[in-house]
Amino acid sequence: MAASAHTTPIPATLSADKTRSEAKVLTDLVAHANLDDAQRARMAAQGAELVRRIRAEAKPSLMEQFLAEYGLSTREGVALMCALMLTGRVLDEGQGSIAGTLRGAVKRLGEPVIRTAVSRAMKELGRQFVLGETIEKALSRARGQEAKGFTYSYDMLGEAAMTAEDAARYAKAYSDAIGSIAAACDKGSVEANPGISIKLSALHPRYEVAQEARVMAELVPVVRDLARKARAADMGFNIDAEEQDRLVLSLKVIGAVLADPELAGWNGFGVVVQAYGKRAGLAIDWLYALASDLDRRIMVRLVKGAYWDTEMKLAQVEGLEDFPLFTTKTATDVSYIANARKLFEYGDRIYPQFATHNAHSVAAILDIAGDVPFEFQRLHGMGERLHDIVLKDTKGRCRIYAPVGAHRDLLAYLVRRLLENGANSSFVNQIVDDAVPPEAIAADPFDALATATAPAGLAAPKDIFGEARVNAKGFDLSDEETLARIEAARAVDALPEAGPIVAGSASGTAVEVLNPASGEVIGKVVEADAATVAAALDAAAVWAAPVAERAAVLRKAADLYERDFGLIFAALAREAGKNLRDAVGELREAVDFLRYYANQAEAAGDHDPRGVITAISPWNFPFAIFTGQIAAALATGNAVLAKPAEQTPIIAAIAVRLLHEAGVPQSALQLLPGQGGVVGAALTSDARVKGVVFTGSTDTAFLIRKSMVEHLDPGAPLIAETGGLNAMVVDSTALPEQAVRDIVASAFQSAGQRCSALRCLYVQEDVAPHLKTMIKGAMNELSLGDPWSLTTDVGPVIDEEARADISAYVAAAEAKGTLLHQLAQPNEGTFVPPAMIEV
Ligand code: FAD
Ligand code: 2OP
Repeated sequence: MAASAHTTPIPATLSADKTRSEAKVLTDLVAHANLDDAQRARMAAQGAELVRRIRAEAKPSLMEQFLAEYGLSTREGVALMCALMLTGRVLDEGQGSIAGTLRGAVKRLGEPVIRTAVSRAMKELGRQFVLGETIEKALSRARGQEAKGFTYSYDMLGEAAMTAEDAARYAKAYSDAIGSIAAACDKGSVEANPGISIKLSALHPRYEVAQEARVMAELVPVVRDLARKARAADMGFNIDAEEQDRLVLSLKVIGAVLADPELAGWNGFGVVVQAYGKRAGLAIDWLYALASDLDRRIMVRLVKGAYWDTEMKLAQVEGLEDFPLFTTKTATDVSYIANARKLFEYGDRIYPQFATHNAHSVAAILDIAGDVPFEFQRLHGMGERLHDIVLKDTKGRCRIYAPVGAHRDLLAYLVRRLLENGANSSFVNQIVDDAVPPEAIAADPFDALATATAPAGLAAPKDIFGEARVNAKGFDLSDEETLARIEAARAVDALPEAGPIVAGSASGTAVEVLNPASGEVIGKVVEADAATVAAALDAAAVWAAPVAERAAVLRKAADLYERDFGLIFAALAREAGKNLRDAVGELREAVDFLRYYANQAEAAGDHDPRGVITAISPWNFPFAIFTGQIAAALATGNAVLAKPAEQTPIIAAIAVRLLHEAGVPQSALQLLPGQGGVVGAALTSDARVKGVVFTGSTDTAFLIRKSMVEHLDPGAPLIAETGGLNAMVVDSTALPEQAVRDIVASAFQSAGQRCSALRCLYVQEDVAPHLKTMIKGAMNELSLGDPWSLTTDVGPVIDEEARADISAYVAAAEAKGTLLHQLAQPNEGTFVPPAMIEV
């Protein structure tokens, strides 16, 4: 049957269930596994028997012992890792530090010895986990294991391409490898032939949800061509599973590729599913539906998952509702078995491949297998003895996943293997420790589920600040449901108008507010005149409530900020030119400021306030810095007169209205939008003002200080946060991909307008050419445009004045011949395309 162009729709749950309650997911999984006591006891007994045999048949290799003993949970292990990262250099740190451990060794042995040892260790680690530097060497080294009955899936090392050039290089490496492996595909079936494993992140520099249209248009054809080539050789072609935020996107790519009519009748298309993910079962259901709709047979490799630490940290940092992965190893083990059951049930369409080094998991699978054909898989350099036994006993199929490649592409893969080998919880770590009895290593996870606890210190994303305060709510911009919710909430017809919000009467001049991305008028602000400022000063009154009450009001305001996220995002985009990612960061920072200062004030207790405080804030963080300044002053009971930046009065008015709604008295917080020369000058030269908080340019800070000296009480503090020039130093020990990712983010996010933006990069001379090329390539992948659009990386700068200023600087560099690279200018709006200048 010819495949239709459209593929099986992805159910909404595949996005939504990312953060479903762990308990609920597990209840479903346990029910699906449907194992009785006797069966579970048998699995555990057989698992323990395997452990005994592994221990009896051969001693663990030196490397396995080493990794288990010196994993990343030991001081020496971390020191070794540091040494690896530093390629032989030892940091000069104090005694007792990680580097101190290494320094002791350096003293005893001398540096040349250590250098040689580290370099040897690196080579050994490479040999342990990489089959060969080239596919030819790997194919020839594979012959030994093939003679024993093993087959292979080759993996060309490489992932997370930063540039189109790197993506093309990886695509060529995969394509060439398929060509070389094809010669060994003479066993008569995809199951018996060797295959290849690929990573989608290696094949596109912007493999992310925000760039879905590009991914579908550009990545799909590349993967399809590789799949066709694999098909021609009758070889398995497997798509590795990577991070959870790309799960749905990866399935879309997979659906689009598999629908290619030229792939009809081929059984070699493979997909990896990670059992540690809460959506593993849903992913398998969808893959089965897809295979059925397209009338295909596919291969599904079930793994537990290799990115646990990263995913948990990301979920915390991003303030997700919950973790996308299970929090206990036991849950992951249960999920593995339950989903294995599912794969067997889908045996008419799916060839199950079980990738695990865990004896209990293997025993469980052998127990539930029935007569559906399947295979086991292990990683090169791991699980040898277990798989030798299984191959011998079952005469079944075992495949070895074998990374191929050079040192420079190894690091990410190697770090995952070191984490795995070093983790106390992992099977490969426990098996080499004779003190752990076989029955404990192969204990029944279903039995242990009720008492399993997450690793100590693992706080849910909302609880990362502990008792102190809840983490600001995050917005998962890789989740379609969240994106739809944001879209609906920010679809406001018009932004509210801005003007003085004062306890007395107000007057001034109406001025249009412009969208920097388009130049269109998006609203109006009445800029306060001198009389209004005077009236506000008269009306200002300290907030005489007890500190606990003030703190409660600020916390309420934080909740209101979160409630009105749609309006806030809309204003940040239209008035300040912020893209969605920046807007989310800004709202969360503002919310956190409110909660943080509420706590700080409460901890300090009741004190007399200073009195009237002037807060003058910038346009680059028009919501977060605006709120932070005010919150600190209000929490301690002061009366605040807030002057927002001329460019961003609307977002400030939104903030002030919400603070009032939460219960801040009008006389304790008044908003005075207007010109610096009028409002700012008046608010910093009145003797009733008892302090000034200012964020902005150094020049203005000097003006304010001068005015304060002349007019204010000498005790009135000026808290000024002014301009700076942030630098980054990159030497040859940095992984270029990681350095470039951070360089590009820091330099160009928020159109480079953050006070913390990277402005000056210092690069070690011998790595500079490569780094410059990679930065250029990564810059080329950035999209400039309307910040409203999810695809936009770089929005406009704040106004025409800023544009003219920065553009003149870039033009001068161009005239001098030091402009290394710049992107193209969009047609309208106040954009400054990212530029790289040699200084
Ligand atoms: P075990 O030691 O039994 O289990 C380790 C697993 O438990 C890990 O997944 C770990 O993250 C998880 N775990 C540990 N602590 C916790 C906790 N507190 N809460 C929840 N879970 C926890 N991985 C990928 O991500 N993508 C791939 O494409 C991929 N391909 C592979 C191919 C092969 C052939 C093999 C063998 C592995 C592959 N892996 C892949 C890696 C695989 O995920 C790891 O090897 C796996 O983590 C080890 O599983 P195990 O059953 O051998 O080990
Ligand atoms: C990894 O790259 C094996 O795909 C797995 O860690």
